Amino acid sequence: MREQLEQLRNGALQAIETATTVEKLQEIRITLLGRKGELTGLMKGLGSLTAEERPAIGQLVNSVRDEIEGALGAALASAQENLMAERIRSERIDISLPGRRPVRGTKHPISLVIEEVSAIFAGLGFSVAEGPEIEHDWYNFEALNFPPEHPARDMQDTFFVENSMLLRTHTSPVQIRTMLKQKPPVRIIAPGTVYRCDSDATHSPMFHQIEGLMVDTGVTFGDLKGILTVFTNQLFGQKTGVRLRPSYFPFTEPSAEVDIACVICGGKGCRVCKNSGWLEILGAGMVDPEVYRHVQYDAEQISGFAFGMGIERIAMLKYGISDMRLLFENDVRFLRQF
Ligand code: DAH
Repeated sequence: MREQLEQLRNGALQAIETATTVEKLQEIRITLLGRKGELTGLMKGLGSLTAEERPAIGQLVNSVRDEIEGALGAALASAQENLMAERIRSERIDISLPGRRPVRGTKHPISLVIEEVSAIFAGLGFSVAEGPEIEHDWYNFEALNFPPEHPARDMQDTFFVENSMLLRTHTSPVQIRTMLKQKPPVRIIAPGTVYRCDSDATHSPMFHQIEGLMVDTGVTFGDLKGILTVFTNQLFGQKTGVRLRPSYFPFTEPSAEVDIACVICGGKGCRVCKNSGWLEILGAGMVDPEVYRHVQYDAEQISGFAFGMGIERIAMLKYGISDMRLLFENDVRFLRQF
């Protein structure tokens, strides 16, 4: 029996030493110390011993069991420690990886043109004025000398709201609001959103304009041409040719349309300028005395000019954009280029 116990102890200690996992060690504990385990089996044999043999063997059984339990406990603790160390190692996060930067937005080409045009006119002594997008008929049409039957008042072009209110069809009503608020001299530009009931490849129901107005004593058509030449040269380059063609607007007399030499072909003629060599970029003229009458300015004492341009068109020419819809789709692949 003594021999059996010693054999069992040696075998057990060896098995414990070679076992590396928690599961394996638990298995060993059951086969040795469990209710049907090997050591438990041996202990049942104690009954067949003589009274003299029993105490010494009993002691041996206890010490073998203590030894096995001690070895199992130590091995289990170290196996659990290894398991934890392995988990810590495998779940480790590498905080040295560079982060992902948030994408930085860019300014929309429409905003860029408004800023650039505003800066050029600021240099010529103009300040920025604003007006409402939901406008009264009187400011949008009446005070600007649109006769009641004028085609621009037609339902085709204007979004009417109610009670003579409408979405402004141009930025020209800001002229009226400014002159009602202040006496001459006046030098303002008014950038803003305008609306017309029109939508195709070259028209959007919402677009942008910049209005300009200069009123003072002795302002002439020569001043108009001079200021607009300085402006177009600064915006499109020093050598850009400028020409004025006679035109008609209800609120200016005389009126002109202003062309620049085609920025694509330089004036030789191409698809963009329809072979004319010129591109129309704005409307302008000397403010009509009828307009002064509506704002109680004395047309005998003062004179002035006004002009208006479409920002989408300027942006398309300046940046070589072929389809106006690109300006409204807000595709970041397009916008990031500016
Ligand atoms: N308001 C005009 C339009 O929407 C543009 C314009 C033309 C404005 C001549 C002016 C001007 O101030 O003098 O087409």
